[in-house]
Amino acid sequence: MTQHFTEAASDETVNARIGPHTERRLAEVMSSLVTHLHAFAKDIQLTQAEWDAAIDFLTRTGQLCSAERQEFVLLSDELGLSMLVDAINNRRPAGATENTVLGPFHVDGAPVLEMGSDICLDGKGERCLFEGAILDLHGNPVEGARLDVWSDNADGFYDVQQPDVQPKWNNRGRFITGADGYYHFHGAKPTSYPIPDDGPVGALLSQLGRHPYRPAHMHFIITASGYQTVTTHTFVDGDTYLKSDAVFGVKQSLIAPIERLTGTDTQWRSRFNFVLIPA
Ligand code: BEZ
Ligand code: FE
Repeated sequence: MTQHFTEAASDETVNARIGPHTERRLAEVMSSLVTHLHAFAKDIQLTQAEWDAAIDFLTRTGQLCSAERQEFVLLSDELGLSMLVDAINNRRPAGATENTVLGPFHVDGAPVLEMGSDICLDGKGERCLFEGAILDLHGNPVEGARLDVWSDNADGFYDVQQPDVQPKWNNRGRFITGADGYYHFHGAKPTSYPIPDDGPVGALLSQLGRHPYRPAHMHFIITASGYQTVTTHTFVDGDTYLKSDAVFGVKQSLIAPIERLTGTDTQWRSRFNFVLIPA
């Protein structure tokens, strides 16, 4: 094979340069990437103007990234790649709770609260009781499971998006289950909200005729000794955007029934059992 570049053998020419001492997985990943990238450019007959526009798009995406904003993760989310990587890495047997995207708004170190506490600190929105059990695949309760939960407020923003408006740790908390595996806490009934769409990723969504909304959800990370960690959400049944989540995070098994309560300060109840599998 010639060492000079030809259109026909473009990917082989590039991959032939990978050195013999290159770490095995890096060589595997990069040669596959080059093969697929070159096939993609040939498939769509990529024009110079389109490639220049793509470089400009990626440059602006990178320039928007900061400690508070991760535009590349948003791009991965909107392309369904975050969900694909999550699916590849979290295959579980039937009956086990499914994973979904972590999203950019998790914060480590939320306060550990008494079971039953209210995580909504700004008092906005309707109150909702979230309750259920943490179980193993045989239906036994899991004691000592830690639930890390977070949601947007009634205006559709996470506390970290409005540090000067919302109290710190608004709509966030951690809870530890007792011997019965039961969890319950109060919060604001989550609302659907747009992913940050004022950057290049939002502009692309709009050019593709897609809306930026996520259906209302409560985030959960559930960890328990001896079990696989579950990073997931429960989605509010009936939400308008369940079938068109901007980041493809919805799975049928994660749609939680929600019912109206009467005669109490709490207007809603969302019940959901989580099933963990051994680590
Ligand atoms: C979230 O659910 O918090 C989220 C996930 C992906 C992109 C933006 C937000
Ligand atoms: Fe979210």
